[in-house]
Amino acid sequence: MNCTQYIDVPQNNFDKPRKLILILGGTGFIGSFLFLHLLKKGYVVLLLVRRSSTFFSKCVHPNLIVYDYDSFFEQPSYFINKIEVVINLAGYSGGFKRWSMSVKHKIKESRVTLTKRVVSFFQL
Ligand SMILES: NC(=O)c1ccc[n+]([C@@H]2O[C@H](COP(=O)([O-])OP(=O)(O)OC[C@H]3O[C@@H](n4cnc5c(N)ncnc54)[C@H](OP(=O)(O)O)[C@@H]3O)[C@@H](O)[C@H]2O)c1
Repeated sequence: MNCTQYIDVPQNNFDKPRKLILILGGTGFIGSFLFLHLLKKGYVVLLLVRRSSTFFSKCVHPNLIVYDYDSFFEQPSYFINKIEVVINLAGYSGGFKRWSMSVKHKIKESRVTLTKRVVSFFQL
């Protein structure tokens, strides 16, 4: 992903308070359009990505914060009282694979596990 081709938001040029929006699955098809759109609208976006993601080095913007899942969830977070919206788009898609039992299991488990993690994080 090359963010610079989409991000034309001038730094520190927002006329309304900046909401912090947490997005899981921001590297995906929908999430990548969504977070860029939100940045353009003046929101501050906190993206959670997998540790293996190449995203860290590729996408830089002053209102974009990127954490890997474990670092974010395992720390007593600075962000917990600042996040106003959570958008969870993350989960295994299976691509064009046949929907075998094991693929179905991965589709379900990846979503359920992450959602539980987010819910318990905010219940701390
Ligand atoms: N696109 C559609 O037309 C459509 C229609 C109906 C519903 N949906 C639903 O909307 C959501 C987003 O769709 P999408 O098309 O943007 O999906 P996508 O392109 O497949 O993106 C999935 C996102 O989830 C992450 N992810 C995959 N497996 C994961 C795992 N095991 N743990 C943590 N993160 C994982 C991916 O991260 P990596 O980049 O690291 O792989 C990516 O950021 C999905 O739940 C999908 O089922 C989509």
